[in-house]
Amino acid sequence: MEGRDVAHSTVTLAQMIWPDMAGRAGFAHGGEIMKLMDGAAGVAAVKHCHRDSVTARVEGINFYQPIRVYDFVTINSCLTFVGRSSMEVLVEVWAENIARETKVRALTAYFIMVAVDETGRPAEVPPLIVTTDREKALWEQGKRRYQACKSDILAGDDSYKVCRE
Ligand SMILES: CC(C)(COP(=O)(O)OP(=O)(O)OC[C@H]1O[C@@H](n2cnc3c(N)ncnc32)[C@H](O)[C@@H]1OP(=O)(O)O)[C@@H](O)C(=O)NCCC(=O)NCCS
Repeated sequence: MEGRDVAHSTVTLAQMIWPDMAGRAGFAHGGEIMKLMDGAAGVAAVKHCHRDSVTARVEGINFYQPIRVYDFVTINSCLTFVGRSSMEVLVEVWAENIARETKVRALTAYFIMVAVDETGRPAEVPPLIVTTDREKALWEQGKRRYQACKSDILAGDDSYKVCRE
């Protein structure tokens, strides 16, 4: 299967935070932001593999800064690593206060998306071509997380499967 580079599937979504996405104190609900992140990760994954993909895992979710109502949020997602059927997607959320002209990196996470066929079974994805130093470094980090996850499963920690029975 022919590989695709990181740029091929990199996406940016943008969204104003409206009052119905925030609580009484004016801070955005974490779940609203995670939903946007999941969407951005899903689009990047589908652009890479040209198939449906499902979210299998979210790793390292870190809320660095609060996001407030009427902040303009930009969500960048890019593939960092692929296995046979899984794709690791780095999702970064930036929050901009338009009036003050300030912009902060508010949130990051790694989404593990799995390509599936028409029956919902994992399907092979194209190789990911990494070229820049940053892409290569992210690939190595992603590979370590992938291998650690596989070791947990081999060691018998398959608890994530139990909930499907
Ligand atoms: C993700 C899913 C398709 C994997 O199916 P499975 O039968 O467990 O498949 P496998 O064990 O062969 O794993 C397939 C790939 O997914 C990866 N994977 C599966 N579960 C994972 C998890 N919890 N974390 C990280 N990777 C996972 C495997 O490492 C493997 O990667 P590889 O092909 O690149 O080596 C299945 O668990 C599923 O459908 N889950 C529900 C997904 C969903 O509905 N998400 C929406 C949120 S409700």
